[in-house]
Amino acid sequence: MAEHGVISEKPAAPAREQWSGQVGFIFAAIGSAVGLGNIWRFPGVAYENGGGAFLIPYLVALLSAGIPILLLDYAIGHRFRGSAPLAFRRAAGKAGERIGWFQVMICVFIAIYYTAVIAWAASFFVFSFDLRWGEDPAGFFVGDYLQVAEAPITFDFVPGVLIPLVVFWALALAILASGVAKGLEKCNVVFIPLLVLAFLALVVGALLLPGSLDGLNALFTPDLAALANPSVWIAAYGQVFFSLSIAFGIMVTYSSYRRRRSNLSGPGLVVAFGNSSFELLAGIGVFATLGYFAHQQNIAIADIEGLTGVGLAFMTFPAVVSAMPMSQLFGMLFFGCLVLAGLTSLLSILEVVVSAVMDKFELSRAQVVWGLGGALAIVSILLFSTTSGLTALDTIDNWANNVGIVASAVLVCVVVLWVRRRGRELSSHISLISTFRVGPVWRFLVTVLSPIVITIMLVQVVIALVTDGYGGYPAWYLLVFGWGSVAVMVVVAFVLTGVPWRRDPDDFGAWPDHAGNVRETTRGGRR
Ligand code: ALA
Repeated sequence: MAEHGVISEKPAAPAREQWSGQVGFIFAAIGSAVGLGNIWRFPGVAYENGGGAFLIPYLVALLSAGIPILLLDYAIGHRFRGSAPLAFRRAAGKAGERIGWFQVMICVFIAIYYTAVIAWAASFFVFSFDLRWGEDPAGFFVGDYLQVAEAPITFDFVPGVLIPLVVFWALALAILASGVAKGLEKCNVVFIPLLVLAFLALVVGALLLPGSLDGLNALFTPDLAALANPSVWIAAYGQVFFSLSIAFGIMVTYSSYRRRRSNLSGPGLVVAFGNSSFELLAGIGVFATLGYFAHQQNIAIADIEGLTGVGLAFMTFPAVVSAMPMSQLFGMLFFGCLVLAGLTSLLSILEVVVSAVMDKFELSRAQVVWGLGGALAIVSILLFSTTSGLTALDTIDNWANNVGIVASAVLVCVVVLWVRRRGRELSSHISLISTFRVGPVWRFLVTVLSPIVITIMLVQVVIALVTDGYGGYPAWYLLVFGWGSVAVMVVVAFVLTGVPWRRDPDDFGAWPDHAGNVRETTRGGRR
């Protein structure tokens, strides 16, 4: 047949890999959602954006966009049964495929730095044995450990980062090479309960310390005036997207591995509320600990420096750990949790890339994991085990999340729902077997409200980045590493969409729709 410009009279496509069942999928999806974003990002973002009042925009973002777009991702992945480029191609033709590759490229960029943070956390897990950061954790992290250079680009390797980075790339690729059920699922089924237990121990321990309640007051005392500030709302939507792993291909890919008769809405709610509960727990644990630290030092929490991101996890937290009773144990629990949460999310980010290349080029899992995964590992090692790694990480992280993922969410809503009008088909697909049905309200949220709100947000972010720059870095550097990253994502998405499919995208086999149609529905709409 000549659809998509491919002539194929090939043998049937090999059966798509599957989770062993619903529980395996839920573990994997929670493993993906609960990540560095929950532990190091949420507490700081909430604190900086109105404290307790932040929970209002956070809940609004979760209910109005987070959960509806999560279900949209599930529906697209399951209905059109493919990696992001394949599923979007079938849902929305070439424009859809470009969005799919754009999401794959977001994952490529995130994976490259995400592994570096996991490697740092693993080093700090080991450093916790003898509290190696000493009296000056900030100086230790930037100086002794990362050996950050003045120059923004260097090729001086730092062995202390290089070795764990190589180890974690090798581990992640080995798990991915074992496949969906035997690798990804097994690893999540073991690691997620371990993570929950370790994190609960950390939080309970923190709450028993003197001063912990001051910490909780600092986090949860609402600054209602913050609600009038648009950047607080932007932060809430950004946090929800990154944390739920939506709009960058992960949930599309994971849901493509589900069986034909699968409940989509029930597990969606379990994953979303599981993720938010973990996020709240992280906020409570981190701020209870900071409360204790402030109490020890006789200072106010607001006077503690570095309450977000890299600073919170690797500079402030080590100082706090040193001041605690049973410091070593607290340090190991905290950094151990970062490693577990990070690794299970990293696997999902890399699976987006692996699955996309397997589908388009008809390569085996092993070929893609070791060939392409190996190449990504080399880039990650070159960039992040040198003395200039920190600046690149910070810049790429900001652009990938605040520009890339947000733009991708708008594009999905506009192309799949506005242009291709897939809303009804997808809502009946979700409702077919699910715990609860979705209808006009869901369609309104994903078709009208979310894209409008997210577009407003994106425009504000772009204006702020263009006018104010970022992080005090030179303009040329932001142009290369920030805007340059997004430009590379777009160009590669166009180029890869132009490459012919080895197999017609409709030959992979979609699940029949509620009326039993397969081809008619996936081929519906304009190409
Ligand atoms: N959802 C993942 C996180 O929170 C990517 O880190």
